[in-house]
Formats: sequence, C-alpha cells, structure tokens
Amino acid sequence: RTKIRTHHLQTMKAEGERWAMLTAYDYSTARLFEEAGIPVLLVGDSAANVVYGYDTTVPVTIDELIPLVRGVVRGAPNALVVADLPFGSYESSPEQALATATRFMKEGQAHAVKLEGGERVAPQIAAITAAGIPVMAHIGFTPQSVNSLGGFRVQGRGDGAEQLVADAIAVQEAGAFSVVMEMVPAEIAGQVTRKLTIPTVGIGAGAECDAQVLVWQDMAGYTSGKTAKFVKKFAAVGDDLRGAAAAYAAEVRSGTFPAEEHSF
Ligand code: KIV
Ligand code: NA
Repeated sequence: RTKIRTHHLQTMKAEGERWAMLTAYDYSTARLFEEAGIPVLLVGDSAANVVYGYDTTVPVTIDELIPLVRGVVRGAPNALVVADLPFGSYESSPEQALATATRFMKEGQAHAVKLEGGERVAPQIAAITAAGIPVMAHIGFTPQSVNSLGGFRVQGRGDGAEQLVADAIAVQEAGAFSVVMEMVPAEIAGQVTRKLTIPTVGIGAGAECDAQVLVWQDMAGYTSGKTAKFVKKFAAVGDDLRGAAAAYAAEVRSGTFPAEEHSF
C-alpha cells in the first residue's frame, strides 16, 4: 500500500471516489485501522471525551494530545495522520496557530493539522499552510464553540446557509486541503461539496460529501450511553470487551485460568 498524501485525496475527489476517515488515539487501534485500509486518521480533540473523560473538548491541552499523535503515527505508517489543534491554541493570532501547528508536526510527527472555524480563522490557515503544513478545516457545528453555539445544534439552516458557504470558500481560499462539515443539512453540504475543489468530509452532513468521518468508539459501539443521530454502530466492541473482562475475572476466581497450557 502506498503512503497517502493530500494529493491522493484530491485525485479521489476528481474521480468521484468516496473515502472514510476515522479518529484514532493510540498505536494499537491505528494499526487495525491501517490494516482495514482507512486512508486518513484523525487524532481528534474528541480525545477530551473518549480518552480523558471531559464533558466537552474545551479543556484538553496540547500536551495531552501530542503523545497520542505519536502513537497513531507509529501504528499507521501509510495513513495520513491529521492532528486536531485544541481550543485556545490557535485562535489568538496566525503566529500562535503556526507555533502550535509546528509543535504537532515536530513533537507529534503529524502529517497535517486541523482547526475549527471558517472565515474567522482564514489568516491562521494561510499562515500554517505557508509554512508547509497541510491544514484541514472544520466548519458547521464546531464543538470547541459549543458554549457560544447554544449546544449541539445543526448549523447552516435557513440564513445560516449563506455563512456556511462563505466559510467553506474562505478556508479553501486560505489554502486548506480539505474541510470537515459537521451537523449541516445534507442539501447544503452537497452544494458546498460541488462548489469546492477540495474534498469535503462529512459528519452528520449527509451522503454527498466526498468523505465521511466518525469517532471510532461511536462507529464500533464502544461508547457508553446515547450517541448522536448521525452515528451508525458497525460493531458492539463495548459489549465484547466488557464480556471478555467479566469472563476473564470469572475464570480467575474459579481457577479455570490459567490452565496447564498457559503455564510453564
Ligand atoms: O475531534 C474529532 O473527533 C473531530 C471529528 C469528529 C471531525 O473533530
Ligand atoms: Na475535533
């Protein structure tokens, strides 16, 4: 398998070939996803929720994310690994954004970075890409702004459609190689996808995006509690793992494990 680079994603858009992106936060899952042929892995700041147990992505720090990026890069040598810039690490200025992106490239060995926002972060995207770092943008519902967006709500409805299109064009013009659209009406996401020359990656944005992304724990049924409407569970890994832990503990208690074949 060849190493995936941004131009491959561009070619896939040109040829109408859809692709899947997944999050990953460690070496072992990154290896499995690479073996499954997933071309792009995102070390999302959703690690805040699924790795660190925070309620939102707001508190997670650069120092909490960089070690996760290193593990994913080692586990998936052919995937394009994108690292999310966390809340507070890029909004102030293009200089701040470039300094943070550089840390993720140098210390995390990521291949690209992702940040949230449209028009308002275009200068940041321009500064990072000018330094030779590919940027994936993220528009529509942007979880780091949950407090100002009034909760987990679909974006780009009604009057919001115009702003969404403006944001999509702004990030493409600033140099982004791809853009995530989260919780956007399928019709608007389709319009944006046809309008842009860079690939769109949907999450809760319908079937007309060039690619799709899900948090892997959601995709694999490893998340506890209720999941969003846009999630489909392709496995029940959580039930399997809980069952395995319980079976192991039961065999230890009963003396069935370890058996003779596990002993020296
Ligand atoms: O952090 C994340 O997991 C994300 C994706 C869901 C797009 O930003
Ligand atoms: Na994110």
